[in-house]
Amino acid sequence: MTQRASASASPRLLLLAPPGAGKGTQGRRLAELFGVAHIATGDLLREHVAIATPVGREAKSYMDAGELVPDPLVLTLVLDRIGGEPPLDGFVLDGFPRTVAQAEAAMRWAVDSDRTFHAVVSLEVPTPELIRRLLERGRASGRADDNEVTIAERLRVYEVKTAPLLAFYARRGLLLEIDGSGDPDLVFSRISEALTRLGVSS
Ligand code: AP5
Ligand code: MG
Repeated sequence: MTQRASASASPRLLLLAPPGAGKGTQGRRLAELFGVAHIATGDLLREHVAIATPVGREAKSYMDAGELVPDPLVLTLVLDRIGGEPPLDGFVLDGFPRTVAQAEAAMRWAVDSDRTFHAVVSLEVPTPELIRRLLERGRASGRADDNEVTIAERLRVYEVKTAPLLAFYARRGLLLEIDGSGDPDLVFSRISEALTRLGVSS
């Protein structure tokens, strides 16, 4: 069954990919291209951690260990950003949903608020390249979870809890599988071309 919304000037896109695949890199560019919000749950959580809000204090130990933050906390964060009267029209959601429970809640929100999703972009990158990118960023930026042990756990958690969503969205006719390797400009053109073929263009 297809649950894709019809083409829109303000697309609602989800980025579903393992750590280091380029969700942030491509999400920012897509949001700029379409003039919509880029909402990255990891970035939102890191902001909370940085200023030690109650959300940040609860999330920190999960993030440091490479585990997923509990669903209710993440759902509240995301729905606060995209909900409202009226709900946000267009957005790029980066790193959400990440569990079947989050995907089901997102789908319910989308139907209830008449904001069904246009596409779910999956970025495929070989694991050794993911690890290389994350270790390099860890050295350059000092991001706390970009170390060998936590990267391994993030990749494991992705396989167990998040990768099943690929089939969830494929069954609904929403999944766009994109080769995420090579230059970021090249990856961006692959995504934009695939979206254009779906009728989603700026
Ligand atoms: P999050 O911040 O989402 O981290 P992640 O999924 O591990 O992914 P990254 O942000 O590390 O990678 P990315 O895919 O965005 O790639 P990027 O473009 O940065 O989540 C962090 C934590 O928050 C989670 O572990 C969890 O605890 C919690 N969390 C977040 N969302 C949650 C949710 N929904 N539910 C529960 N918990 C949640 O690129 C990576 C690096 O590679 C960069 O240095 C970049 O410059 C480089 N790069 C990008 N593209 C290329 C390319 N084509 N070639 C070479 N280098 C490239
Ligand atoms: Mg990211």
